[in-house]
Amino acid sequence: MSEVSVPVVSIASLSSHVGQDVRVRGWLYNKRSSAKLHFLEVRDGAGIVQAVVFKGDVGDEVFARGDKLTQETSLIVEGTVKEHGKRKGEYELQVKSFEVVGATTREYPISPKEHGTDFLMDNRHLWLRSKRQHAIMRVRHTIVKAVRDFFDNDGFTLLDAPIFTPNACEGTSTLFQTDYHGEPAFLTQSGQLYMEAGAAAFGKVYCFGPTFRAEKSKTRRHLAEFWMVEPEVAFLTLDDDMVLAERFLSYVVSRVLESRQEELKTLERDTSKLEKCIPPFPRISYEEAIGILQANGHPETKFGDDFGADEETVISNQFDRPVIVHRYPAEMKAFYFKRDAERPELTLNMDVLAPEGYGEIIGGGIREESLETLEKAIEAHKLSRDAFEWYLDLRRYGTFPHGGFGLGIERTVAWTCGLGHVRETIPFPRMLNRLAP
Ligand code: 4AD
Ligand code: MG
Repeated sequence: MSEVSVPVVSIASLSSHVGQDVRVRGWLYNKRSSAKLHFLEVRDGAGIVQAVVFKGDVGDEVFARGDKLTQETSLIVEGTVKEHGKRKGEYELQVKSFEVVGATTREYPISPKEHGTDFLMDNRHLWLRSKRQHAIMRVRHTIVKAVRDFFDNDGFTLLDAPIFTPNACEGTSTLFQTDYHGEPAFLTQSGQLYMEAGAAAFGKVYCFGPTFRAEKSKTRRHLAEFWMVEPEVAFLTLDDDMVLAERFLSYVVSRVLESRQEELKTLERDTSKLEKCIPPFPRISYEEAIGILQANGHPETKFGDDFGADEETVISNQFDRPVIVHRYPAEMKAFYFKRDAERPELTLNMDVLAPEGYGEIIGGGIREESLETLEKAIEAHKLSRDAFEWYLDLRRYGTFPHGGFGLGIERTVAWTCGLGHVRETIPFPRMLNRLAP
């Protein structure tokens, strides 16, 4: 390397250094060689650049070192930034010298050839370096940022919910139990109950963090640990809740379309499908959804049935954008939902189903505000009354109509990226049979 100080730049910024000598620090992504040329594909996390090593420029000794470079060696490359000969808008480095920072001590396990999913999942810590995973994580980042921006710009206060909890929110069958200084505790399934306390304190609140479900199901949409954002609003009606959900979701998708075109292209996502995600979303009742299923290949479906992935796909396929399904039978819903005054066997709840068979990405509704009714519901669901005394206080001291929803980040990433499974939507997935790496 030259003694004079050559600026270190990010590959993402090469367009503003054309004609200049720069240094790029990164890893060798790929290499092609001929007798007089090495084409090094170098990635630095922000981008990938082709670094051209010409024997005539660097001399025999440096060129020979290029022969030995292996995939994922970390290195510093110094060279002149040029516009790419063939591809407009791309840049390359005419290499003057390079230096190895860390050689590989074993052959890198992920080669460009096809690998099985289990193998890739076992090597998740390395798999994250590949183009496709890179694109997905960038979309995820944009979604997370857009989620926060939406609520921050809409008068909501962020109120983080605890991870260790004494009580179940979403039923006792999917609780992870742990020991809390000799007491049993559970990893949170949802921050909702705490957000209800928050809504009485701040009016409009949201929490955003990891949530846990000991789901025994091995499906393409279930994780044991996933991230959920949960707004909760005082004096909200079910109609207001639906409007909030559609405004929110369309905003998040528009931000992805605005800033992640390149990543969506890498993922070969048909973006015309995402462009249709604009309000108003169609709204159908649970009973109308049953009718759709009966008329579309599920004649045996009846009131009281829950929707699995197949059913949700049939319903969502009737629409070109997300669809809101509201007022499910109370018997299949959590204890906290308020009943519909006109049809007490139904709850004032709503699910948003994503298009293209991605299924439920939002679940929410209006909460029971009557102390007496809630006490009965806690009993009927066989929940520990003690653990809910604080929650009942919210009905004792100025009870109020309120509601909100939860959006699962991973299912949202899967849908926007067009992925077949949620395991690729989170850096290190936790699933029924996977706790590592
Ligand atoms: O429908 P869910 O269970 O609703 C709640 O937890 C409410 N307490 C939320 C609220 O009203 N504040 O979960 C909400 C969303 C689902 O629509 C889905 O997107 C996601 O969380 N989700 C999961 N994502 C991945 N893996 C799982 N096992 C998930 N379970 C739920
Ligand atoms: Mg749900």
